[in-house]
Parts: sequence; structure tokens; C-alpha cells
Amino acid sequence: MEDKKEITEETQNQYSIEQLDEGIQHVNNPVVGVQPVEKKYLTAVKEYNQLYNNFYFSDGDARVEVRVVSDEIIRVRMAPHGTFLEDFSYAVPQTEQRATVFSFNETVDAYKVSTNTIACIIYKENFHIAFADNIDTIINEDAIAMHWEENLDYGGYYVYATKKATETEAFYGLGDKTVDLNLRGSRLQNWNSDTYSFAKGQDPLYRSIPFYIGINGETSYGIFFDNTFKTQFDFAHENAGQTSFWADGGELQYYYIHGPKMIDVVKRYHILTGTHQLPPMWALGFHQCRWSYYPESKVKDIARNFRERKIPCDAIYLDIDYMDGYRCFTWNKKYFPDPKRMIKELADDGFKTVVIIDPGIKVDENYWVFREGKEKRYFCRRCDDYFMEGYVWPGRCQFPDFTNPEVREWWGGLFKELAETGVAGVWNDMNEPAVFGTGTFPVDVRHNYDGYRGSHRKAHNVYGMQMVRATYDGLKKQYKSKRPFTITRAGYSGVQRYSSVWTGDNVASWEHLKLGTVQCQRLSMSGISFCGTDIGGFSGEPDAELFTRWIQFGVFSPFMRAHSAGDTREREPWSFGEEYEAINRKFIELRYRLLPYIYSAFWEQHRYGFPILRPVAMLEQADQTNHYRENEFTFGDKILVAPVTEPGQKSKIVYLPKGKWYDYWTHDLIEGGAEITVNTPLDSMPIFVRAGSVIPESPLMQYVGEFEPDEVMFQVYYADYEVNSFCYEDHGDTFAYEQDIYMEKKFVVNGDASSFTIRQSIEGLFTPRYETYDLKIISLPFKPARIVVDNKDYAGSLEEDELKCIRIKVNKNFKYIQVLA
Ligand code: GLC
Repeated sequence: MEDKKEITEETQNQYSIEQLDEGIQHVNNPVVGVQPVEKKYLTAVKEYNQLYNNFYFSDGDARVEVRVVSDEIIRVRMAPHGTFLEDFSYAVPQTEQRATVFSFNETVDAYKVSTNTIACIIYKENFHIAFADNIDTIINEDAIAMHWEENLDYGGYYVYATKKATETEAFYGLGDKTVDLNLRGSRLQNWNSDTYSFAKGQDPLYRSIPFYIGINGETSYGIFFDNTFKTQFDFAHENAGQTSFWADGGELQYYYIHGPKMIDVVKRYHILTGTHQLPPMWALGFHQCRWSYYPESKVKDIARNFRERKIPCDAIYLDIDYMDGYRCFTWNKKYFPDPKRMIKELADDGFKTVVIIDPGIKVDENYWVFREGKEKRYFCRRCDDYFMEGYVWPGRCQFPDFTNPEVREWWGGLFKELAETGVAGVWNDMNEPAVFGTGTFPVDVRHNYDGYRGSHRKAHNVYGMQMVRATYDGLKKQYKSKRPFTITRAGYSGVQRYSSVWTGDNVASWEHLKLGTVQCQRLSMSGISFCGTDIGGFSGEPDAELFTRWIQFGVFSPFMRAHSAGDTREREPWSFGEEYEAINRKFIELRYRLLPYIYSAFWEQHRYGFPILRPVAMLEQADQTNHYRENEFTFGDKILVAPVTEPGQKSKIVYLPKGKWYDYWTHDLIEGGAEITVNTPLDSMPIFVRAGSVIPESPLMQYVGEFEPDEVMFQVYYADYEVNSFCYEDHGDTFAYEQDIYMEKKFVVNGDASSFTIRQSIEGLFTPRYETYDLKIISLPFKPARIVVDNKDYAGSLEEDELKCIRIKVNKNFKYIQVLA
């Protein structure tokens, strides 16, 4: 099927659906039950050849390609009958990576492709493939040779890989699964599914991220199985000594990603699949959503309450009822007679308006979007050429084929009016795609798949990603120099390049709060750092305590949004009475104070591929116990939190990794490497800061950009060893950073029994308008007698307050501060 790209609209029907997927080769008219299904395995390697950085090995019939992608990444592909599929991936925009030095050698038993860092070994006798580090320690190897089986349902192949799993190997990743954080013992699949009120352990869910990380002591590695068909993973479940992954079709194609640290694997996975764009700063504030706020007076009332009650908030959402009969890109003029004016008034009060968009387009000849889509033949069709139709919110719908670049372009253009109306962000929902009754599309629906045509079997898991890609690209064009903000429910690996995600329709229960903490950590390790849950739970009623604990977790979720279903009671931060309102305010304020720190963490994600949430296993991967600690994590590099996820919980046991930590609230110094018990009254939660951290804090604002600050605060925590911290600043909402208009600040602190030093170095072309730093130096172990700032004595007060802080104001360009006993 090499000539698949040549199939035109006209000739397409001559091909049966069985022949439309790229995963099909040499299988003639399979009839269920007639042909016996037999698993076929690679046998012995008979020959090899090399083309640039690709090596080909054959057993006489099947072929395997080994490609050196970079020093730390090698890709493996298998073609059961010798012909590889077209090299196209939605996840990996460029498979050609950096030029790398590599070598090839042959011994009696094996071939070896080596880079400076890793080697891929292909054993001649059994065609097993192994990966080793540069001192020849095998890190990952086949337990069984790669194999395949005819998929009689449609004539493609099931393709399988089975790797050895060690007795204690731990597994992480795979997106937003609701099983234990360590995947060992689980068997899971990827098939994007609309899973309203999903349960713990339910699988599959909304997203497909076929990427996992294995950890053996100090060594970890990643496997990214880039296959968009339904994929399955077995992590030492069926056989304690094996881990397998397989797909219902397509190619057995995976990337081996070297560590040795788990965080290195995640960074390298980002090199392949991309990172989040830097979001506009306001998108990191608090968002208030509900199904649905309408009419206009209700929206205004919510906004007014935030401002009157002095609870910071940056975004307010319009769910499906803002539309006319749920027709995308229209307004219900009864509820919203003048949306442009309303959005402007909200904006004047510091609120951004985010609207929902669904893929289902109402079948209605009087509706311009439907007419246009129909005329241009942009909607998906079944194998017999009838349109794919299904019921969603507007009733009978047809669905754009977002895997067609022309359709994406069209869809992007549809946002023109919404953008002109002032909408600041778009929430992409129901894009698994979800269809009432049947769940999703029938598998025979055909897709363009960017020219590499295929059925819904192949396109299902990328449909949502391509929808939000179209939305993001369209908004980017409309907004010109401003950064778009998008969220999506469905996605595939790489979706982070276009969007943030939320975990879908969760439940107002303690179990879901706990699940949310696991889902967000897992998403963050799986390439999707910009994630969050519906704070409070989407369906059901949270009580006041649950809502408040969820707000606390929300402060440390990269995406912070409260949302609830339409049949629930009102649920804003003030809905549960004054006592709770005060605590909710205190925590939302904490989020706003931390925004410069959070923004810097987003920069590190965007630029360097660091995950924002990091489980304890990522910090200390060799310690087995850490593989079962799933209820605490660091938020960025410096702050560790342990959200309270039990009702009535008065205290919590928290493990602090090795090193020194400060209790955020009391500034008590704690030696890490041990568990401690922390009191957890409702108005507090366990938050710890690494000793030596320099944490930027913003003056309290009710929304991002409320005023131009004349100083920025830094919390500087004493340490008796050297610690580096980073802070990133730019305009906050433009793309100027792509032209290097930003500022990266590095702080290096160090101390001993009688002195403490802070050095600052600044790089970049951006100049913040404020002039002064308000430095809070915390927990000096000595009484300061003298402070020297860039060789000049500091004249101000050196008095410590009750929280063991001294405060000094210095010029933002200082280079060197010495605090002396
Ligand atoms: C879906 C979404 C939910 C939204 C609702 C109505 O259930 O997951 O967030 O509120 O649809 O649009």
C-alpha cells in the first residue's frame, strides 16, 4: 500500500475500508473464522544493510529498522513483510533529530549500533533487541522477539513487543490513568473515551499517551510506542517477568529513550514530541467555570462577586449554553444580546472570557458552518461514502475531519468572529470524539490523516489532538502577537504543543480528589504538564471541606479551574459560607503570590522540557519505597506539597527527600530523607521549600496585570550548601520571547555558620519596569550584624521578625550580597 497518498476522493470508494489503513500489507480478504490466526515471530537475522543513520535487519521476510535519532534516542520499526509504512507521525514532527556520531559493529552473535551514550544490540540467533548504556550494561531487552498476528476484523496486523521486566522494576507514565502511580501490575489500553463520572481503575479514559518509563535502581529508560491505533500495555501483570505493548494495527514502531534519571527520560520524550507553548500569564491564574453561566447578568454577577469579595480570578467560562441551539460559533442572543460589549466590560474588570467549542456541527441547512462544511466536503464519511452522523448536544451532527490539513485551516478561520468579539481562550470538548449512544464513531469512518489515509481505527486517538491543533493555530493567526489559550479533553502524545488539558468529568468525592493528584502527576510525567482537574468535582456535590481541600490542591495544579455540572448546586469559592470562603481566598491568594515562580516553572517546561509536577519517585528513583509514594510531589523544582485528600484529616505523614527543607508556614528547618508528621488543620496544607531556594513572589493582585508592581519580592531560604534558583520574566502574553526578549535570572546562594551569600546573574533582553527587590532572608542561623550589597554596606534595619526573616530592599540589578554575623 505504498501508493496510499495517491488515492483520491473519487477513487477512494474502490478501496474497501479494510484496505484503507496503513497497517495493512499482503492480507487478502480475511474472513472471520475461516483463516486460522497464528502469531508469527521474527526468526534469526539473516542479513543487514545500512542507509545513513538507519540500519536494516532481515530474517528473510520481515525487516527491522533501527534508527539513531540522537545520542540518547533510538527508534525501532518492524515490517512483517519487509515493507515499512510511510514515515509520518502526529506525535513526532521531526524524526530526523540532531546529527549524531554513531558506530556499527558485528560480532559472532550480534550486531551493535552505538552512540556515545547508548547501544542497540540485535542478537542474530533470535532477533531479540536490547539496549545498553555506554559501559555495556543492558537496560532493556526483549523477552520474546517482536511478533504479529493477522487482525481478522479488518485485515491488518496486531503487532507486539515483549520486554523483560525485572522483579522490582517500577513503571510510570501513560497519561492520565486512574490506577496506582506505579503502573506495575496493571494492564491498560489507549482508546480515547468519553467517560463521564469515571471510576478509579476505569480504563481507557479521554487521552492516549503510549509512553512509559521503566525504573531499575539508578537507571531508567522510556519507551514511546508511537502508534495511534488502539494500543495496549501490560506491565508485569500477566507475567511478572515481562512487559508487553501491542496495537490493533499500524506499525510496531517505538523509541527507546535513555535516562539514566527519570527526569532525563521525560526531557528527552519532550525533545521528540515537543513542549507546551509558553501560556499567557493570565492562564496561570484562577479560572471559574460552570455548566453554564448564563444569561449575561449571571456572568456579571459571578465576576462582581469575585471583585467585591476580593478573591483573585482571571478567567470566566461560557459553557455550551452561550450558543444558539448548541451551534458552534454562534451566540444565543437572548442570553447574550451583545457579547462584544459584555466581554469588553469583563475585560475592563480584569476577566478573560473563555468559550467552549465542540466538534459536532448541527445538521441544519440554515446554519452557515454546516453549509460551508458540507459544500467543501469537510465532514467525515463512512466507508460507503455516507456522512458520519451522530447525536451530540445540538441533536443530529456531522463532524469535521480534523486530520485533513485543509479542514484544520478552515476550522481555524472560523474563530475570526469569536476572536474579534474578544474571546481570550477556547475550551475544546467532546473531541474523543464523543457521540451520544454509540460512544464514538464506528471504526469504518474514513479519515484523510494528512494524506496517509486511514479508517477511524487509525485516526480515533488523534482526532481530538488535531481539533485542538486547528483551534490553536487558528487563534494564533487571529490574535497575531498575543498567545492563545486552549484546553482540550482528548489528546494523543504531542498534544501539549497545542493545548493544556483537564482530566474530564470527575466526581465530587474524596476518592476523586486523591485520583486527581495521581492523574496530574502522571500527565506531567507523560509530556502534559499543563493539566488540572475540575476543582470540586464535576458531578455530585462536594461538601465545604472537600471543596476547600480541592482548592488547595488546585493551587498546585498547573491549570487551576473550578468547574461543575449543570445539575449541581452553585459552586464558587464563596458558596460554602464565610469560614470556608476565607480559607479559599487565602489559598487562591497564595496561587497569585506564587505566579512568578509558577511562570518560571512553565518556562523551564517550555524551553528545557522539565515536567512541572514531579513525584517523589522522580526525585529519588533508586529507593523502592518511593515508588509507592503517590500523594505528594514537587511543584516545579523547589516546592514540595502533600495535598490533604482525606475528610477530617488532622495530620499527614509526609516524606521529605534528602537535603534540607523549610516548612513554608513556620519556616522550621527540617532534615530530609525521612517521614515527618505534619498537622493539617483545614486552613493549612503541607508545603515545604528546599533550603537555599530563591522564590519570586508577586504583590497580591486580583488578576494578572491589575497594576504594574514597583517591586518584586523574593523569599530567600538559608542553606549551608550551594543552591541554584532560576526566575524567568517577559511581557507575559506576547511571542517576543521567541526573539529572545525575555530575562532569565540565576541566583546562587551559599552559607556557613557566620555568613550567607546571594549572587545574581542576569541574561536576556527584557527589562522589567520595577526597580527594587524586596528580599526576605529566611532562617539565618546567626544574628546578622552587617550586610554588604555590591561592596556597599546596607543601611537599613537588620531586625528579624517572628518568622525568622530579615527584609532588605535592594536594586534589581544587584550582583552580590553578603550577610555577615
Ligand atoms: C462535557 C464536559 C464538561 C462540560 C459539558 C457540557 O461533559 O466534559 O466539562 O461542562 O460537557 O459542555
